[in-house]
Amino acid sequence: MSLKDILEMDLKYLLVGGKGGVGKTSVASSLAIALAEHGRRVLIISTDPAHSVSDSFEMDFSSGEITKVKGVVGDLFALEINPATAGEEFSKAIGQPMGTDQFPQFGAIPGLSELQQGLGQDLQSIPPPGMDEALAFGKILEYAEDDSYDTIVLDTAPTGHTLRLLNIPEFLDSFLGRMLKMKTFLSNAMTMMKSLFGGDQEKDRTVETLEAMKEKVLIARDKLMDETKTQFVKVLIPTMMSVFETERLAEELNQHLIPHKFSVVNMINPQNSDCPYCMHRHNEHQKNIDYIKSAFPLDQITTIEAFDREIRGIDMLKEFNSKLIPE
Ligand SMILES: Nc1ncnc2c1ncn2[C@@H]1O[C@H](COP(=O)(O)OP(=O)(O)OP(=O)(O)O)[C@@H](O)[C@H]1O
Ligand SMILES: [Mg+2]
Repeated sequence: MSLKDILEMDLKYLLVGGKGGVGKTSVASSLAIALAEHGRRVLIISTDPAHSVSDSFEMDFSSGEITKVKGVVGDLFALEINPATAGEEFSKAIGQPMGTDQFPQFGAIPGLSELQQGLGQDLQSIPPPGMDEALAFGKILEYAEDDSYDTIVLDTAPTGHTLRLLNIPEFLDSFLGRMLKMKTFLSNAMTMMKSLFGGDQEKDRTVETLEAMKEKVLIARDKLMDETKTQFVKVLIPTMMSVFETERLAEELNQHLIPHKFSVVNMINPQNSDCPYCMHRHNEHQKNIDYIKSAFPLDQITTIEAFDREIRGIDMLKEFNSKLIPE
């Protein structure tokens, strides 16, 4: 088994994550090209305000609209959501002014904290997601039952944000469940009042709307937990700092039942006996790769050496692909 198997799997979601700067965007962009060239209709989504998918492809996807990627044989589309502008729209929608530098949080919804207190303490123990994670999960929800794209590749932000993203289904499930309990209670009380004292018998649709939302969250969550529909590719570099962070990430993925059987160890120092510094780094990296193999015995591990150039533009991404998914 190798990373190449991803091409044959019927994946709905391919999530790529890891520590900052390890090569997540390069791996996500590269795999998106490979999937599209293999005949799948692919949408790569990033919520990174740094617009790195644009930088990676050397194209501009920052319009907030889905854009076809040029230079790829097949159907590859990219969408870069800007949390700052999406945040402005969000703050307009909820009628609460907010600076563009400030990502609105779910916690910023007026009255939410009072509602949380009323609904119970355990909801507060789940950290509310930030706007970027909320937007990413919004896209996961949007495409859960929409077959416009065969595979959604999600270039995630560094690990901390990913962990908050993984909490969202649980957060929403719990939140909507409690809203529903309250709503059902209120709705029943209203119906009783109306039947006692007369009045408009028109049915309140809020319960149905909440139930439909909850149902959608559960469908997306089921897909995210299904190893034939979702894979989270862990990207790391061969330093112990990165390895430790990946071990914590893997634990969290296990807790949330998100399948993750592929790891990419990127930026390995090549062997060069003329350069003592390079040899020292190379030997250290090899030792750490041995540790990675023992730490993730069930993983399919792909190793990639550091290139002598940045991975930018379609041609470089394709060259990167030839290492990621060798023929
Ligand atoms: N194997 C490699 N050899 C050389 N350069 C690489 C390699 N992999 C990635 N890079 C370069 O390293 C930099 C960081 O890569 P990338 O943007 O893919 O990382 P990231 O994990 O997405 O970063 P961030 O956490 O900031 O989103 C980029 O300039 C990229 O071109
Ligand atoms: Mg990135």
